[in-house]
Amino acid sequence: MQIKAPRGTYDILPDDSGKWQFIEKIMKETAEAYAFREVRTPLFEHTELFERGVGETTDIVSKEMYTFNDRAARSLTLRPEGTASCVRSLIEHRLYGGLMPIKWYYCGPMFRYDRPQAGRYRQFHQFGVEAFGSNNPYLDAEIIILMLEILSRLGLNEYELHLNSVGCPECRKEYRQKLIAFMEPFKKQLCKDCQLRYILNPLRVLDCKNELCHTAIAGYPVISDSLCDNCREHYAQVKAGLEANSISFIHDDKLVRGLDYYSNTAFEVHIPGIGAQSAVGGGGRYNGLVKECGGPDFPGIGFALGLERLLLAMDALNDKQLENDYSCVFVLPMKKDFEADAFKILSHLRRAGIRAEKDYMGRSTKAQLKYADKIGARVVLFIGEEEIQQGFLTLRNMESKEQLRVENNELVNTINNILHKF
Ligand code: HAM
Repeated sequence: MQIKAPRGTYDILPDDSGKWQFIEKIMKETAEAYAFREVRTPLFEHTELFERGVGETTDIVSKEMYTFNDRAARSLTLRPEGTASCVRSLIEHRLYGGLMPIKWYYCGPMFRYDRPQAGRYRQFHQFGVEAFGSNNPYLDAEIIILMLEILSRLGLNEYELHLNSVGCPECRKEYRQKLIAFMEPFKKQLCKDCQLRYILNPLRVLDCKNELCHTAIAGYPVISDSLCDNCREHYAQVKAGLEANSISFIHDDKLVRGLDYYSNTAFEVHIPGIGAQSAVGGGGRYNGLVKECGGPDFPGIGFALGLERLLLAMDALNDKQLENDYSCVFVLPMKKDFEADAFKILSHLRRAGIRAEKDYMGRSTKAQLKYADKIGARVVLFIGEEEIQQGFLTLRNMESKEQLRVENNELVNTINNILHKF
């Protein structure tokens, strides 16, 4: 039986990897401009980290984790997201005692046992940032602005920013009671999951995608009415920071996010038109998480963008930036006897940073030329008897079809001039 990639995973083949390199480069450059630095954490962590960090009642922890025992019977989990790992790393290296704020970014695969569909995979990629050590609301605004700037540098300008404040544990306690009391009379009308959620984590019912629950909770009390003075003030300043940068947003009372660690600011960016999975990114503040994971009381805020969903949105734009620019120089010995000379020139070009290739399949001269054309060669270098004896090469510009004689010592310059004209 043929072995295929596991359900919900896929290969990024070379014809597509240029797109990935392009978008990763833009994201990293933008984050660097905002003074974030790269962190790389392991792909798996102790299961307890996510149970404590993300929250046991969340879908991610209760249904979607890839958890396994290693050979020493330790429970490990493939990371479903990056925030908890960053927090673990910050605590482990005691970085909370150093210079503030700490600003990190990361990029890589995450794993969730979710039902695969367009824009939803079991191994997917996130680009995320986390900033620790400051509760300044203008940092919240900076994080949101950075996320939007990445989108706009990728050519994605048609998005909706949803914003909410989920308050601090104090105001949420009061809100929780209000919600439970509100839902009590019609709890039986909620979907099966929400009948459980309604007691364990009633805020999660607001986020449920089931129509039954939407209808049942019409007229629900909103969290903005329960925010304490500090949280209300924090939210007002985040909005002022966004407004000062002319950023429009939709205040969304239902936005509670799918992870338990959020406090105060919560946000999501949607791109309509890419299907049901329209949330390309989301994030928020998580002032209690470092403490929850065993560190000191230390604030944090961040976001993550989903690369697959960004690519879906960019494909829909038919963006020229995404076309693979693959060009090379092809070295063609006119006879088998000249293969060693061709090989030497090939290495010379590669050492000079020029992408170069030769034939390895024993093709005829004619077939080599055809092949060179197919792989995107812009220049072909012919090596024959005369060339070897007199120390020059015959260069064919594949676009103009012009042929010229180039001395060996002029080769790299001449090729660079031709390639840079494109
Ligand atoms: P999240 O909303 O769970 O947040 O994920 C962020 C983004 O990852 C989503 O908006 C989506 O684009 C992408 N994503 C999530 N699940 C999948 C999937 N199964 N397939 C494809 N893409 C997916 C977090 O993960 C938080 N750690 C973000 C954060 C950072 N909050 C604070 N700091």
